[in-house]
Order: sequence, then structure tokens, then C-alpha cells
Amino acid sequence: MDALDVLKAKYLDGIAAAGDEAALEEIRLAALGKKGEISLKMRELGKMTPEERQTVGKALNVLKDEIDAALRAKKTALADAALDARLAQEWLDVTLPGRPRRQGTIHPVSQVMDEVTAIFADMGFAVAEGPQVESDWYNFDALNIAPEHPARQEHDTFFMARDPADPRPPHVLRTHTSPVQIRAMQAQGAPIRVIAPGRVYRMDMDQTHTPMFHQVEGMAIGKDISMANLKWVLEEFCKAFFEVDNVELRFRASHFPFTEPSAEVDIRCSWEGGQLKIGEGNDWMEILGSGMMHPKVLEAGGIDPNEWQGFAFGMGIDRLAMLKYGIPDLRAFFESDLRWLRHYGFAALDLPTVFGGLSK
Ligand code: DAH
Repeated sequence: MDALDVLKAKYLDGIAAAGDEAALEEIRLAALGKKGEISLKMRELGKMTPEERQTVGKALNVLKDEIDAALRAKKTALADAALDARLAQEWLDVTLPGRPRRQGTIHPVSQVMDEVTAIFADMGFAVAEGPQVESDWYNFDALNIAPEHPARQEHDTFFMARDPADPRPPHVLRTHTSPVQIRAMQAQGAPIRVIAPGRVYRMDMDQTHTPMFHQVEGMAIGKDISMANLKWVLEEFCKAFFEVDNVELRFRASHFPFTEPSAEVDIRCSWEGGQLKIGEGNDWMEILGSGMMHPKVLEAGGIDPNEWQGFAFGMGIDRLAMLKYGIPDLRAFFESDLRWLRHYGFAALDLPTVFGGLSK
């Protein structure tokens, strides 16, 4: 074996054994660097005879290329191995199920609002909104509740502070969602189909009353909307909401200033063994107020009552939640007790839809 073969074996073995890029660089410098072994040998060519130079020069070039190629190949191999090692370490099985931590839950009131909204959206109702601090006019007058009307007292209204020198009546915390009827009519005109879920306020507090609670208002106005449409819509709603195939509703004559005629609606149910069942049994439970919109209310909303007519209804969302999910005390709804929220709350990503199931 001549001297070049020895050199070649030495460097190729060194390259094969190198464990990282730093070791490779050391070998490159030792062989091909300015003062490397091969470079020095190249420099010696000058002292040789032309014949010697030809053969030795060629052999040195071949050796230099071989070492160079081996260095490059090893460098790539080291980089690949490093990537493989990293991929193996950072590997993650994305098919594993997530860990449900249930840190936060959807409050039953939000859940029921979403359920109600999904059901009415399916029947072509849009969602309308109004302010919680409402003017006396929207909350009462526009709804045909005159200043001396007893309904004003029955609403146990919270009044906002007003400069005593100001002759205008003070604003109120809205006592029902009905003022949104007026705002929606003014904003959209007729025909119209909306629901308006939201917070309302009355000075009242016991096991079934809290000073703040939630209602959902509904309203549909068209050329020939009638009580029959109201009945169908409410029956469809109750079937979907209580997730039963049959419901029976009873329309009981009643009185509201904003509807004529007015009806309170009861649903057939049973309370066997303290367990509420909707759609069967011999009991009736009141669930909402409703009626045909009073001409004066249409007028207040800027809609001609000679041309249009409509129905409206209003119901308590908290009460719906208590009934559907068997929650006994209304006050607990607003105490933010984490144990209560974990027990009665809903998973955050289970959005209720009519087609996918409301409460799962
Ligand atoms: N606003 C009524 C209340 O708070 C509920 C109501 C009754 C709303 C009849 C209506 C209706 O739209 O037609 O007690």
C-alpha cells in the first residue's frame, strides 16, 4: 500500500467514525485545510519532476475529491439522523382523545337561550335586541300600558336616578323583553319575525323570583297572521324544546295591555313522584303569555294596523331551564357557586342545534 492509500484509509475511516459536525470539520481541516496533510503534499508537487508531478498530482486530486465527497455524504447523513432523532422525540399522537378538564361550563340560562334561539331560527325567526336600561315610553306607553294602568305597579319597577328638576319620567331597568317588539318594528318594519331573549328586572325575591331574570319575547307580523299560527309555532317550540313527540297546550283567556285577545298558555304535564313529565298526565302548567298584537302597539312601532297584524308572546327563560333540567331553586342560578355550575353546567363545545340535538 503506498503512502496515499494509507492517507485515504485514515481519512475515510475517520469520516465514517465521526459522530457530529464538529468532528467532521476537524477532519476536513486536517486533510484539506490550508495546512492540511493533502494540501501540504500538493505544495510539494513543485519540487518534483514533470513526470512525477503528473502521476502524483493526479492521484492527489482524486484523493482530495474522494475525501471531499465522503465529508459531504457524512454531513448529510448526520443531519438526517439528527432530524430523525428529533422527530422521534417530538412525536405526538394526535388521535388520542383530549383530556376534558371541564374548567368552565355553559350556564343553564345560556344553554336554554341557545336552545330557544336554535328552535326559533329553524322557524325563520331572527334575534333582536334592546337595551336593559329602557325609557319609560318603550317599557310602558308604547306597549299600551298607560301611566295609571295597574300593570305598572304590578311590574315592581326599578327606576334610574333622574335630576328632580327634570320633568321627564325616569328611565327604568326594563321589566320585560316586550319593549324590544317596538324597537324591532321601528328598525325593520313589516313583515317581521323575531325573538328577543334577554335580562329583565323586577323588585322581587323568593325561591322562584330574583330581582334579575331572563325572558324571551317572540313576535311575528304579516298580512294574515292569526292565533292559529301562534298556536302552531308554540306547539312546535314546546315539542322541540322539551324533546317530546307530543305536547298539548291549553290557551286560557287572559289580559295583557299589549295584546287583544290575550291568552296564557298552559302545557299538559304530570308530576308523578316529584318528577315532571311534559305531554302526559292530568296537570297543567303555565308557561307563557301571548296574544294578537294590540293595534296601538303596532302603531307605536310605526306599522299600520289596518294593513298588518301579528302575534306576540313572552316567556321566562329561567323557568324553562328549571323545568327542563329539574333545577329546584331559582336563586342558585345567580350565586355563582362552582359546585352548582359544575353540576348543572353544559360542556362548552356542545352547541345546541335542531338537527344535531338540543341537550344531547
Ligand atoms: N311582557 C309580559 C310579562 O312580562 C309577557 C308577555 C305576555 C309578552 C303576552 C307578550 C305577550 O309578548 O303577548 O309578563
